[in-house]
Amino acid sequence: MSDQMIIVVTPTYKRLTRIADMIRMANTLSHVKNLHWIVIEDGKKKIPAVENILKRTNLPYTYLPYKTIEGYPKRGWYQRTMALKFIRSNTSQILGKEHEEGVVYFGDDDNSYDIRLFTEYIRNVKTLGIWAVGLVGGGYVEAPKVVNGTVAEFNVGYLPSRTFAVDMAGFAVNLRVVMNSTAVFGLHCKERYTPETCLLEDMGLERKDIEPFGWEGEKDREILVWHTKTSTPNIPKAEKNATKPAPPPDTYGYFVEV
Ligand code: UGA
Ligand code: MN
Repeated sequence: MSDQMIIVVTPTYKRLTRIADMIRMANTLSHVKNLHWIVIEDGKKKIPAVENILKRTNLPYTYLPYKTIEGYPKRGWYQRTMALKFIRSNTSQILGKEHEEGVVYFGDDDNSYDIRLFTEYIRNVKTLGIWAVGLVGGGYVEAPKVVNGTVAEFNVGYLPSRTFAVDMAGFAVNLRVVMNSTAVFGLHCKERYTPETCLLEDMGLERKDIEPFGWEGEKDREILVWHTKTSTPNIPKAEKNATKPAPPPDTYGYFVEV
């Protein structure tokens, strides 16, 4: 299994802290071999500063702009949908000559990732891998409830009855499952509780397909991905003048996404 390509899909958009978030994520992913990073810009065009970060990882990557279209929630749904379509129509290019198999992971640009999430969990997903996510869902941790190695329930606060009560960061699907389906994060997912369970159910997956990771042992279980959010600093804006527009803030020639 260990030669499976890891395909990470990351929606991203312009904001004050985005470059900082992306540098953090890029530094983590740089440590992982055989990983293709698909980054979709929620905007009309690519941002050179973002592309430079991707280049410096030395990872194979794809960077495409797809601005969220009317009707879609502005939370990465449309970008992940376009990435799924890209994966399905460019599979051999993404896998390269050396890989026949892959795993798809939706890694948002603002989470905190342990390298072992990729090397020990995602790399080994045969169908649908699920693991704990820290600081998500209004609680300390969300995790699959594992009994005798199988998952019949979820330790989550919000709507545990969902078929897959898991955050975007808490699962990965084998490329085979992606290729055998046309499921995307469609508009109908708005009526299906959360995008995660919508996608996975649409892929034809069931709870019995879940391979739990990181649950061994009674205590001191480790969390390998945290649902963090970088706070936006409160920088006072230049006051608007009725006659003159406010001048752009001075960043002394440095690139900041103001
Ligand atoms: C939570 C989950 O962690 C997301 O994976 C899920 O898509 C989202 O809920 C949802 O309900 O749909 P949260 O941390 O609250 O997300 O949201 P963000 O991290 O702000 O956004 C998720 C991803 O979408 C990020 O990679 C972000 O860069 C991207 N995004 C966000 C855009 O591409 N455009 C936007 O306008 C906002
Ligand atoms: Mn987030």
